[in-house]
Amino acid sequence: MKGQRSKGKGLVIAIDGPSGVGKSTISQALAERLDCRYIDTGAMYRAVALLARARAVPPDDPLGLAGLGRNMEIEFIVTEEGSGVTLEGEDVTLSLRLPGVSEEASRLSRFPEVREVLVEKQRELGRQGKVVMEGRDIGTVVLPEADLKVFLDAEPEERARRRYLQWQEKGIEVEQEQLTREILSRDQRDKTRKVAPLVPAGDAALIDTTRLAPGQVLDRIFALLSERGLLEEK
Ligand code: DC
Repeated sequence: MKGQRSKGKGLVIAIDGPSGVGKSTISQALAERLDCRYIDTGAMYRAVALLARARAVPPDDPLGLAGLGRNMEIEFIVTEEGSGVTLEGEDVTLSLRLPGVSEEASRLSRFPEVREVLVEKQRELGRQGKVVMEGRDIGTVVLPEADLKVFLDAEPEERARRRYLQWQEKGIEVEQEQLTREILSRDQRDKTRKVAPLVPAGDAALIDTTRLAPGQVLDRIFALLSERGLLEEK
């Protein structure tokens, strides 16, 4: 697959799916190989959660939370360690991933007021083209015109196992059973919320990653890009 690059300036790829399914790994690798920007929309919901904590905005105040989202300065950066995020100029890549923040991000993401503000920011990034955007509603709501939509899924136990390994790599001890419980409750909330629930777009390619290594998932996505004439030889 090496030696291939995206055709034209505007390639837009939407990657959706539940937590722990491998979206970030796959989206980052894809963005790198296609020379596209990588946008992690979950980080935007997490950033609002982090700001709400810092500024004592209550978790049941949709307008207050939406205001934080509207005014926040969030940047997606590439560092030596990989992709990162700055919020109000501060590197928050690690703090965004704390388990409490995941839970709060999932809770506040059900408010239409918050979604409206963040979706607008995401669409603006999408309009710039050459982007791989990952989230829950990218193919359905944020970028319905994307050139390629992929919906990744995997069994919950496998997703919890992957999250567990990620924490271990960072030297942080967490209980795998607790991770499974958290993943299941977050899935339930993300799939059943009234606004923009987690569902595959009708025209998304579905890939079950339970028994696939990241390289195999990438191969499938590159095959889809190729089938659709979205790649050209260098
Ligand atoms: O992808 P993630 O785990 O970082 O996302 C954190 C939460 O944000 C997730 O539980 C639901 C919400 N989210 C969303 O509602 N829509 C998106 N496009 C991305 C994330």
